[in-house]
Amino acid sequence: MSNVLPPPPGDLSYSALSPLISKVLYSKENIASRVSELGRQITADYAGVGRDLVVFGILKGVLPFQADLTRAIDLPLQTDVMTISGYRPENGQAPERRPPGVVRITKDLDIPVSGRHVLIVEDMVDTGLTLNFIARMIRQRQPASLAIATLFNREANRLALNLPIRYSGFDAPDDFLVGYGLDYRELFRNLPYVGILKKEIYSL
Ligand code: PRP
Repeated sequence: MSNVLPPPPGDLSYSALSPLISKVLYSKENIASRVSELGRQITADYAGVGRDLVVFGILKGVLPFQADLTRAIDLPLQTDVMTISGYRPENGQAPERRPPGVVRITKDLDIPVSGRHVLIVEDMVDTGLTLNFIARMIRQRQPASLAIATLFNREANRLALNLPIRYSGFDAPDDFLVGYGLDYRELFRNLPYVGILKKEIYSL
């Protein structure tokens, strides 16, 4: 880490990371306004379902979006999180010998979803393989309905087809995005905006 980040003393706020961003793509205000729109749309669509709406996120990039989106939905709902171990190698680790799209659940939902309206929240859908796996698993639990809300949708890389993405915040370009939950080596998640990470940072 020390070779890619500015020296720690001095400015320890998240603004210390801003020199590593080449461009701010979505400001805090852009994001807030889009999240409010999505919240209004979801409120209208699920207005008739009583207390049967379950909104869950897949940690951990989704944290800020899930927190803001659920507060923008003016309906009674239950919220939950799932943690998974993906198929991507962690920093410095060898890639797992697991086919793409095969995901292990490390923390399942606490809330039952059978017969209920389920909205999966994601920060980013890229290949779609993660959600393909999760959606198939949730369908086996026989929800009344299943839909996906993602803040960023990167369709250019899509491998899984027919995902029920009903709500999408922004079409994501094929850049390395960080902020508002999105990370590079677990940093940048707390930036209030989303920016493009400078190429020289991740290609070192
Ligand atoms: C991101 C994102 C999705 C997944 C999407 O998670 O939150 O879960 O990648 O990629 P896919 O469509 O190609 O399957 P990541 O593995 O970066 O973990 P994080 O949420 O903890 O940052």
